[in-house]
Amino acid sequence: MKSNRRKFLQNISLGTGSVLTGISSLASTPKERDQHSTSIPATPPRFNMCGYAAPKLDVVRIGVVGLGMRGSGAVERLSVIDGVEITALCDKDTSKIASAQKTLAKTSRPKAAEFSGDNGWKGLCESNIVDLVYTPTPWHLHTPISVYAMKNGKHVATEVPAALTIDECWQLVETSEKTKKHCMMLENCCYDFFELLTLNMVRNGLFGEVIHTEGAYIHDLSRDFLFKKNAYADMWRLKENIKRNGSLYPTHGLGPIAQCMNINRGDKMDHLVSMSTGDFTLAPMAKEMATKDSFFNEFVDKPYRGNMNTTLVRTNKNKTIMVQHDVSSPRPYSRIHLVSGTKGAAQKWPGPEKIAFGHSWINPEELQKLYDQYSPPIVKHIGEIAKEVGGHGGMDFIMDWRLIDCLRNGLPLDQDVYDAASWSCVVPLSQQSIDNKSRTIDVPDFTRGGWKTNKPHDLSLNGGGTTKVRKANG
Ligand SMILES: NC(=O)c1ccc[n+]([C@@H]2O[C@H](COP(=O)([O-])OP(=O)(O)OC[C@H]3O[C@@H](n4cnc5c(N)ncnc54)[C@H](O)[C@@H]3O)[C@@H](O)[C@H]2O)c1
Repeated sequence: MKSNRRKFLQNISLGTGSVLTGISSLASTPKERDQHSTSIPATPPRFNMCGYAAPKLDVVRIGVVGLGMRGSGAVERLSVIDGVEITALCDKDTSKIASAQKTLAKTSRPKAAEFSGDNGWKGLCESNIVDLVYTPTPWHLHTPISVYAMKNGKHVATEVPAALTIDECWQLVETSEKTKKHCMMLENCCYDFFELLTLNMVRNGLFGEVIHTEGAYIHDLSRDFLFKKNAYADMWRLKENIKRNGSLYPTHGLGPIAQCMNINRGDKMDHLVSMSTGDFTLAPMAKEMATKDSFFNEFVDKPYRGNMNTTLVRTNKNKTIMVQHDVSSPRPYSRIHLVSGTKGAAQKWPGPEKIAFGHSWINPEELQKLYDQYSPPIVKHIGEIAKEVGGHGGMDFIMDWRLIDCLRNGLPLDQDVYDAASWSCVVPLSQQSIDNKSRTIDVPDFTRGGWKTNKPHDLSLNGGGTTKVRKANG
């Protein structure tokens, strides 16, 4: 509540009542504000982080916070990138730190400094041995760690979603603008091969004007992860599915299609409506698990989120986006990835990957030709190595490599703080809509008008591509 923006909003609201649509809630507390409309007047950003190039870092010293399933893989991937030093490791569980140290040793990397305990991440952020804080922690820690890291002069790469409330989204934006530190959300799906192909095809006009897109996170995590005792630390992800009813994990589906639609860089998400089914699987599963193991008693009779959430967004340029979220129905994985334009369409799920320029999908040979012609330079440069290093088929490594290469060459990052905030804000806004019988909710303009002139990120490797990769086995 310290910032000028918040004081400004309070003043408007006190002085003029609800002159602007939905502005009446803006003088309220952050918590109240999250429950209502979210439009704000377009005021110039303090500093526009879109396209911002930070001073080059020859060596990027990384502190990784959160060394669980995701963080341990990140340490493996990052440790094969040249120009990286993993100087600090943090987890509240010291056994996770010990196994990450083993990974470093296997790749002939020096031992990293260790930070543990619930607030060990603060020490890591304050230390002078880190340039980039990379944080695959449970969701509720993403914004606190990111904000603290930036305030302590560090760039941040945070796992998805970057924020859980609108107030957190603004905290990220305001801190990044004030400190001129990057805040990238690690939306790895933007670096999958088909997603990169379709993005470059969009940029080359092959689909014409993109009219409508669809994305999703449909992945049955229930039995193998949510209800598994040794999967998510302290069962954090199951607990999240009790606390919130909405689109809890929108960014894997949304990130790549938002890039295809130039969201925050020529267009903007204007408003959304969201609807969820009831829960038909999680509560029964909790009951079933509790009959076999009293550990699960605390999860019985809880108000689980609806299984399937569907959120519809309309953009300022009159286009639409559909995002779905379901982690608790037994069905095949899908992020959909549908891009539909005036000249053609692409769709990744259900497989096989498909592209059409009319009534029929093209054949696999024609698709291969498009891959050869339109895969962007990053795929040609690092794609094969990425497949070898791994991480969701290679996309995780392409993302990590690109992040490091940009920092080392002083290039803008592909995803900025406005992307992090606007892709993540679907989490709280979908909840608000659902809480109000699918009422229309305005999407804040985190760029404060910058979207009209901000440019799409660069798909060439111009000025970069210099970072080498060590052999994956050390
Ligand atoms: N981009 C992707 O494809 C992808 C895939 C999986 C997970 N994720 C994201 O990665 C993050 C981590 O997920 P995960 O599957 O690794 O979960 P996890 O439970 O396996 O790991 C979380 C780790 O954070 C640690 N932790 C908890 N509180 C801490 C604190 N106060 N200080 C330090 N460490 C703390 C836990 O001990 C644990 O080791 C989540 O945000 C998740 O959404 C992203």
